[in-house]
Amino acid sequence: MADSSSTPDVQQKVLRHTLADRLYHWLMALCVFVLLGTAFLPILGIKFEWVDIHWMTGVVLAALVLVHIVRALFFQDWRSMVIDGADIRDMARGVVPGAETGKPGKYNGLQKLFHLGVAIFVLGIIVSGLLMLLKIDTPFWRRNPYWFGNDTWGYIYAVHGLFAMAMVTMIVIHIYFALRPDEWHLTRSMLRGWITRKEYQEHHDQSRWKI
Ligand code: HEM
Ligand code: HEM
Repeated sequence: MADSSSTPDVQQKVLRHTLADRLYHWLMALCVFVLLGTAFLPILGIKFEWVDIHWMTGVVLAALVLVHIVRALFFQDWRSMVIDGADIRDMARGVVPGAETGKPGKYNGLQKLFHLGVAIFVLGIIVSGLLMLLKIDTPFWRRNPYWFGNDTWGYIYAVHGLFAMAMVTMIVIHIYFALRPDEWHLTRSMLRGWITRKEYQEHHDQSRWKI
């Protein structure tokens, strides 16, 4: 948080995403778009040499996610992303018209659910993708498709393809929420880092997200 107590709440800034987190989010998003583009555009009929761009971007994504997990577990408050009882109560009340819901902590239940889904899908895609590198020649090793039997390769390819398709749906929902005007302060926070103290007080339970 910045500024003195005499500054109005609309001008005081509360840090929501550090520069490192914002860089991570946008680099990760760029990798995901490149991966989805190189995977699905050739299927849609736009042909180009996609394999090298695809696997190299996949390796970069794996490294980014590894750094994120280490940072999240050891240097950030990992509890801020864990779905708790209050989140489940508020998500359930959210579908009942007129029901009172409490304010969320740093992230609301749906955001945490989205993060959990993305984490499962992306980790599944990364593990299966790294195994699929055994099928191609790279500067580091020669291909060895006999490492697994045909059945196992079938499962690996199914996970990679199905989870990638699920990511398309997840991202469409995610961008829709990010662009909605009532969520604009969160979108700004992923660009510039901060929300105002007034937005913090209006949208968050201060005992659940302590700054
Ligand atoms: C075991 C795996 C993971 C753990 C424990 C974890 C944990 C966390 C935590 C605690 C936060 C909130 C940080 C904060 O705001 O203080 C977070 C944010 C985030 N996570 Fe993860 N995460 C995991 C996997 C992933 C994966 C696979 C992705 C890939 C898409 C991902 C993408 C993000 C993004 C984009 C954010 C928002 C950036 C930020 O402000 O930190 N996470 N994660
Ligand atoms: C144009 C593309 C994108 C936009 C505009 C966007 C926007 C945002 C914003 C504004 C937040 C912060 C929400 C907050 O502070 O509470 C966020 C967080 C996050 N983003 Fe993105 N994002 C994009 C692409 C992606 C992609 C491609 C992925 C996944 C592969 C992703 C995964 C996440 C995750 C896991 C979080 C943390 C959970 C959450 O806050 O909902 N984003 N994104």
